[in-house]
Amino acid sequence: MSHKPLVLSGMQPTNTLHLGNYLGALKNWVKMQEDMPCLFCVVDMHAITADAGYGKSEELARSTREVAAAYIAGGVDPARTPIFNQGQVPEHAELSWIFNCVARLGWLDRMTQFKEKSGKHKERASVGLYTYPVLMAADILVYKATHVPVGEDQKQHLELARDIAQKFNNDYGVPDFFPQPEPVIMGTATRVMSLRDGTKKMSKSDESDASRINLTDDADAIANKIRRAKTDPLPLPASKDELKDRPEAENLLNIYAALADQNRDAVIAQFAGQQFSGFKNALADLTVAKLEPMAREMRRLLADPAEIDRILKAGARSARAIATPVMDEVKRRVGFIA
Ligand code: TYM
Repeated sequence: MSHKPLVLSGMQPTNTLHLGNYLGALKNWVKMQEDMPCLFCVVDMHAITADAGYGKSEELARSTREVAAAYIAGGVDPARTPIFNQGQVPEHAELSWIFNCVARLGWLDRMTQFKEKSGKHKERASVGLYTYPVLMAADILVYKATHVPVGEDQKQHLELARDIAQKFNNDYGVPDFFPQPEPVIMGTATRVMSLRDGTKKMSKSDESDASRINLTDDADAIANKIRRAKTDPLPLPASKDELKDRPEAENLLNIYAALADQNRDAVIAQFAGQQFSGFKNALADLTVAKLEPMAREMRRLLADPAEIDRILKAGARSARAIATPVMDEVKRRVGFIA
């Protein structure tokens, strides 16, 4: 049996979204929306695995609306594509529990993101942070989604989702019940790096705000961060072979190519032999031209939080209409009587 194509992806509402989230994920979601039905969630249940509690709930609600606004400002059309927050679709949590009983400890022990996020004090991390990738598998499979557009850093989690799907199908003797979801990692900026260190991923959790371009940064902040971005003393390379061991140059060229929708070789040829200062000006102009209208639209949307809440609610209703029959069937297969 083949599964109907369906796209699902999501982002965590922790801190502001950045250029990596846009180029690695959101920009591709908007493209995929033209070809396949899509669902995009704001993963508020994932957000509480790390930083939660009294005093943080307002912040979580604010970030959830901000991420939803970014989806819409970036080009996701809520009239066609449900946008919702995970916490309002209880089937994610239900399936996640069943998957907790399918996934093996050994599989989770291999997850590199848990090791990075839990740091030296693993015993103090929440249990939720450990089982985070299991919830992510449930996010995808509760809709039997087939395609998952993400940045490169989510590849290992997608492999786990495929293993969980396979084991559920085997354990319950339904060979093709869940699909094998495909990671869709596309474009030239699948791993956008920090502006301060080309060997580190651009990340919401980096202490230095100068390391990332936030989707809400204004034109001056964007231009300043790009002008101050770390580079090396050489001129820009003339070929991609010369990018070896020049992670900062590679990162900035990749960002340019992704924002301009050009292939990387064409961008290398355009700036070959030039100094970074001129290239950085061109990159700053391009980044401002692409991000500023989006930031403006985000501000406009966020001025009417009730409208965002209405979109999220309608999205959750549409999402549940897909998830409920899948969950009913899962419960029947597992042996939970109705
Ligand atoms: P999150 O919130 O960390 O990131 C959201 C998306 O942005 C991509 N991304 C990047 N891409 C390129 N360069 C970067 N520096 C960069 N930083 C982040 C991520 O790959 C991701 O696509 N676990 C997920 C959220 C999630 C999810 C899901 C995704 C929960 N359930 C189901 C897909 C399907 C996460 O933490 O993403």
